[in-house]
Amino acid sequence: MPATVIVGAQWGDEGKGKIVDLLAQDSDLVCRYQGGPNAGHTVIVDGETFKFRHLPSGILSGKISVLGAGCVVDPEVLLEELDGLEERGISSEPLRISGNAHLIMPWHIAIDGASEKRLGKLQIGTTRRGIGPAYADKAARIGIRVQDLLDPKILRQKIETALAEKNVWLERVYEHEPFELEEVAARHEEFARRLRPYVADTSLLVDRALAQGERVLLEGAQGTLLDLDHGTYPFVTSSNPTAGAAATGIGIGPTRIDAVIGVSKAYVTRVGAGPFPSEMEPALAGRVRELGQEYGTVTGRERRPGWLDLVALRYAVRLNGITSLALTKLDVLSAFHELEVCVRYRLPDGTETRDFPAHQSDFHHAEPVFERVDGWTEPLDECATLDDLPAAARAYVGLVERELGVPVELVGTGAAREQVLARS
Ligand code: IMP
Repeated sequence: MPATVIVGAQWGDEGKGKIVDLLAQDSDLVCRYQGGPNAGHTVIVDGETFKFRHLPSGILSGKISVLGAGCVVDPEVLLEELDGLEERGISSEPLRISGNAHLIMPWHIAIDGASEKRLGKLQIGTTRRGIGPAYADKAARIGIRVQDLLDPKILRQKIETALAEKNVWLERVYEHEPFELEEVAARHEEFARRLRPYVADTSLLVDRALAQGERVLLEGAQGTLLDLDHGTYPFVTSSNPTAGAAATGIGIGPTRIDAVIGVSKAYVTRVGAGPFPSEMEPALAGRVRELGQEYGTVTGRERRPGWLDLVALRYAVRLNGITSLALTKLDVLSAFHELEVCVRYRLPDGTETRDFPAHQSDFHHAEPVFERVDGWTEPLDECATLDDLPAAARAYVGLVERELGVPVELVGTGAAREQVLARS
């Protein structure tokens, strides 16, 4: 498939990095279309673990790796990641950054943290990486863009203009120390010097690659239910992880996209606050957290585990136009004689629905209706294809396919790159 979107079908952390890394082997370009260092991708290759926040996982395979216009870039984090790769002998040369992407500036990080603190019990539970404030400035048309790094005079001018306003907010509203112009300008001039070689017209690059029949992976960060427009607002991120945004975020037309692979865990996890109908009770949640090592890649926070939620997954299939599913971490469930799957929600008026509620208060009060299915306890390490899975695991995959009307083409059975079973 020339242009394939890989999208998180849940609340993020579905194991997209691993699927992207695998498919990147057969791709020419790997592009991120939204988000910033709030993402956390873990990829294990030959026993070596790589954790990425910014970089598309394709960089490990030496593929042209794009940060598209829809991304927000923290230059400090990005450079740290690039240095880390170079230290391990992996070249950063294939990286291309869109000049239209916006920069996360130090005040965005300060405001993210301070505003969460102010919200107290009502906080969103952000990653505190400055994501929301950076996208807010972009929408307000006062952001600083990657292309501003190309001209030291413009860069300094923009920092000066921004600081004149941000420092007032920081001091008066958030009781935060102001930033010092000279210091920020000098640091950013150094970042600019190092990042300039990577700035490119990535929209043109991807268009040309597609015109030449090259294979392009468009990698979403976070997940469908964290989408700013269609997720569980306000407990969402500030960009659009859903597949439609891949076109805008990269700068290609939607008709160029051929396939959308939705990545879902065989169960669900969520970090941060917000309603979560299929959440497991604490003892079970603790067990799954340990079995699946469910701790945030970026923040180290405990993730909240829940049973697979087919209502939410059906919504993800609809919103993204998912053409096939990758079901990750099936091995984590190899410890239960019985599993539960959320097949419907019971709404406050007593009705039951298979469709995701359109209104927040229905979702907040939705009770999960579970179906019990047989579990399995055999390890999955020896399976070579989907047909080798234990009968109960095959039935579990079959249930997902039947309920959603979408084929499960890939199943994850362990952390390493090769531990993915394909349908064919
Ligand atoms: P922000 O993206 O840092 O603004 O955080 C907003 C919400 O998205 C919070 O609930 C975060 O926990 C969640 N979030 C952001 N990035 C990720 C991710 O990569 N995986 C899972 N949750 C995320």
